[in-house]
Amino acid sequence: MTLAWEQYFSERALGMKASGIREFFKLTERPDIISFAGGFPSAAFFPGEAIMGRLQEMMEGEADIALQYGPTEGSAQLRQYLAAKMTREGIASAAEEDILITNGSQQGLDLLCKILLNPGDAVFVEEPGYVGGLGAIHNYQGDFHPIPLDGDGLRTDLLERELAALARRGRKAKFVYLVPNFQNPTGATLSLLRRVKILELADKYDFLIIEDNPYGELRYSGYPLPSMKSLDREGRVIYLGSFSKTFVPGIRLGWVVADQGLVHRLISAKQGTDLCSNSLSQRLVYSCCTNGFIDDHVQSLVEKYREKRDLMLSAMGKYFPRGCAWTRPNGGFFVWVTFPEPLKAREILLKALERKVAFVDGAGFYVNEKGENTARFAFSEAKPEEITTGLERLGRILHEEMKSRGHSEGYAKKAKKVS
Ligand SMILES: Cc1ncc(COP(=O)(O)O)c(C=O)c1O
Repeated sequence: MTLAWEQYFSERALGMKASGIREFFKLTERPDIISFAGGFPSAAFFPGEAIMGRLQEMMEGEADIALQYGPTEGSAQLRQYLAAKMTREGIASAAEEDILITNGSQQGLDLLCKILLNPGDAVFVEEPGYVGGLGAIHNYQGDFHPIPLDGDGLRTDLLERELAALARRGRKAKFVYLVPNFQNPTGATLSLLRRVKILELADKYDFLIIEDNPYGELRYSGYPLPSMKSLDREGRVIYLGSFSKTFVPGIRLGWVVADQGLVHRLISAKQGTDLCSNSLSQRLVYSCCTNGFIDDHVQSLVEKYREKRDLMLSAMGKYFPRGCAWTRPNGGFFVWVTFPEPLKAREILLKALERKVAFVDGAGFYVNEKGENTARFAFSEAKPEEITTGLERLGRILHEEMKSRGHSEGYAKKAKKVS
């Protein structure tokens, strides 16, 4: 017998749903499929041997600490290291007390929503936006105010308009959730002018800023921009970092940097969630940070992912028909493609799956399922030869589809690039 579970669920839980995109990833991870869908780091780049060696040493010399519970806020060593690194690199001027270690930055997002959101609180999000961030806000019943992006990130003119409209109705937003560098899913980077503008708006209209930066260190071209946190004069910015893309995601380690008043409340929320983050992972990461291993590893990742990004962009230029447009990210894992109307990304995807190629259609990254002709392509996981083969196959499908809809051969031959 199964209980009728719905009658027991809280109102909050009744509104929760699994991400459709994550369910879809399972389909595309079949070994015979060339997948641009998942957006995971490349497992081929995981430093397995170095990790094994370090774990062995840890078990011989420090198992008593590495396998024990630890403080909820994270190990003092790792927090001190991160505070010094962030201060040295100009990302945030932080002390140990400003840092909370989390089980990945996703936990940081969940805890922040838990302590900040009442049901119905207004939240600004990027559109299209990161599904994990949107999911956390949804689970705590935030009221979404999606703001479109362009090549320079969030459209601050539209944000300002929306803020003014909210104010006229006597309402305020609680926070804006941003991925300023190489955004998931578009690859866009928020320009410096817009970073400053958002901070000015936050001061004027009194809202917080969540700056989620898991890809920031994976820059392949262009110049680094100052973090929102480093430009913040009032302590409004809450910064999220992660070791998932720069080291390995399976260790589930991220961190939050924020004013101590907020960190204290996060610690209380985390105590009820998991007591503490993984002690073994924290010691492993700390030793791989302090001996310089992770910095060197990031350098090598930048070289390898840059090669994949370049391959993807040049294959799109070669094989995609005119009328398709795509972003040219300076870092991260993602290229965002817009197919010419009336092509629908979901229909193209079904055809692509028949020929063993996968990507994610864009609608799931929108709060209201818009973006029917958009798609996200991750270059991080596929092997270099798969990137070329997969996009050549897809290009053929796109040419066929455009031809069947009456576009002439000549029109369909040349692709258009956008930045
Ligand atoms: C923008 C963004 N934020 C957060 C996360 C979650 O990362 P973590 O593995 O640190 O929880 C991801 C993962 O893909 C992401 O793309």
